[in-house]
Amino acid sequence: MPYEAIHLKYRPQTLLDVIGQETTTKTLQNAVTQQRIAPVYLFTGAKGTGKTSTARILAKMINCQDDTVPCNQCSSCININRSTHLDVIEIDAASNSGVDPMRDIIERTQFAPIAGAWKVIIIDECHSLSRQAWQALLKTTEEPPHNVTFIFCTTNESEVPPTIKSRAQTFEFKLIRADTIASALLNIAQLEQFNLDLDAAVAIAEAKNGHMRDSQTLLDQLFTLNKPITKEVLEEICGIVNESTAYKILVHLATANYNQAKLIVDLLLTRGKSPHKILTTIVKTCIKYVTYTDHPIKQVWSNKELQHIVTTLSNKEYLTKGEFSDIWIQAILMEVARMDLNEKFIPIYRAWESEADAIAWGKQQLPNHDINAAWQNIECINGKKAPAWIYYVIREQIINLI
Ligand SMILES: Nc1ncnc2c1ncn2[C@@H]1O[C@H](COP(=O)(O)OP(=O)(O)OP(=O)(O)O)[C@@H](O)[C@H]1O
Ligand SMILES: [Mg+2]
Ligand SMILES: [Zn+2]
Repeated sequence: MPYEAIHLKYRPQTLLDVIGQETTTKTLQNAVTQQRIAPVYLFTGAKGTGKTSTARILAKMINCQDDTVPCNQCSSCININRSTHLDVIEIDAASNSGVDPMRDIIERTQFAPIAGAWKVIIIDECHSLSRQAWQALLKTTEEPPHNVTFIFCTTNESEVPPTIKSRAQTFEFKLIRADTIASALLNIAQLEQFNLDLDAAVAIAEAKNGHMRDSQTLLDQLFTLNKPITKEVLEEICGIVNESTAYKILVHLATANYNQAKLIVDLLLTRGKSPHKILTTIVKTCIKYVTYTDHPIKQVWSNKELQHIVTTLSNKEYLTKGEFSDIWIQAILMEVARMDLNEKFIPIYRAWESEADAIAWGKQQLPNHDINAAWQNIECINGKKAPAWIYYVIREQIINLI
């Protein structure tokens, strides 16, 4: 069978397939059952959350020859699924934003439905319509001919003129909860006979912030790896910005290892992670560490310093949303990076009188480590072994926790 993208193959065919939009689907189901179809609907909300799919399902429900579910087998359902139904007109306003296509549509609403019970006009991405196009639609949407319904879909409700909004029944499509998306992804994986574990499914959903289409597209990409999909595989592929990545960045910033921190951020950026998301996750992680009393990171970042990072990052947050945000994120991190650890180290190594003291200290900090070998292999910093040793031990201690 030819390959079909997962998000198209699993497009919801009935309201029961539409996940995470219960209030909307229930209300629409009642409207159809009670035959109270509004002349104008407005479906708003985030991308890839079910607006266009639901508009098509509604068109099928009111035209299905068999039932209101819809059946997806009668000629009406089949034609709507194939976009060949004479009474269901779907227009993409992004590429038909002018007044002429709207005039054409209005003309077509003047004739009674040919094949079905209802003429349904779906105007997708309606925020792209020009002012004149909206003007042209005003009168017809105020008093549409009998058995005509308009469904406007948009991710940008603020671009819809208030005059249209006031005629429309509005349904807001919400971002979908991660656990709801995860269970839908597990279902798809099972049907496609791929091995996906629960943690990975939740991580995909979290990475895609409640957008179903985006989650399915990532799943599709992971299927092509042709191996069991675990959280680790996912992190490797997408460089997910999660707490453990933020933690690594903080460790490198703390241990005068700015280059390593920069490398991780570069990698996240090349994998399409937004600077804003990276910054927010670091702030979230710092806030969490402030509340811990005993954590190795406290040896290199005191609570006061963590607080300082939070304030600096929060004050500059706006820079990670605008132009050149990929440069600003690096500049902001450089500002909080510790470039020199000496200040922190001196009090520790002043207490040592011999090599043995230094090794004993290391052993105490890293009980399960081959301390003697590490001591032999350590490379001096500026000709000095003591700071290099502390630097090494503290980093090992922290990185072992990840
Ligand atoms: N609520 C949902 N339940 C199940 N699948 C969904 C849902 N929302 C989106 N999808 C999946 O994402 C695909 C795209 O959905 P749809 O076209 O309905 O989104 P949309 O809200 O119109 O997005 P856009 O604003 O980008 O046009 C569907 O084919 C389906 O696979
Ligand atoms: Mg759409
Ligand atoms: Zn049908």
